[in-house]
Amino acid sequence: MAIQRTFSIIKPDATKRNLTGAINAKLEGAGLRIVAQKRIKLSKEQAGVFYAVHKERPFYDELCEFMSSEPIVVQVLEGENAILKNREVMGATNPEEAAEGTIRKEFALSIGENSVHGSDGEDTAAEEIAYFFSGLELVG
Ligand code: PPS
Repeated sequence: MAIQRTFSIIKPDATKRNLTGAINAKLEGAGLRIVAQKRIKLSKEQAGVFYAVHKERPFYDELCEFMSSEPIVVQVLEGENAILKNREVMGATNPEEAAEGTIRKEFALSIGENSVHGSDGEDTAAEEIAYFFSGLELVG
């Protein structure tokens, strides 16, 4: 498997509880390299564009409100099979279903306030990275 890049967000519930370092330790422990990272605060409109794929879902407004409520940390992770590897270390969307040792099992509060986001495929990874980072910011 070739080296891949994926996009990751440490969500407001986690930055608020000072969990950035603990989550980064889990990501790095899983063999993922953080090749770009910045702490930003989204407007509700910017969150809406990012989550546009969920526009018709009942939780869309709540999700955009939450993602713009506090700072987030956006990241690019690199490694072998990075997309799947990140999804594994994140754990299931609903923390009640997340496996032991995963980030969401350990830190998530609910299906909405679930501490991290990770791209679900190669195309979305490329799109999500490009939404937040310029080429100059990616240092492999
Ligand atoms: S998945 O695995 O991405 O398909 O999960 P999905 O259930 O489709 O959820 C997509 C994102 O929406 C968030 N979500 C919610 N937010 C608020 N309230 C409720 N009920 C809710 N259900 C799902 C979920 O955390 C996913 O966020 P991201 O950032 O994509 O992981």
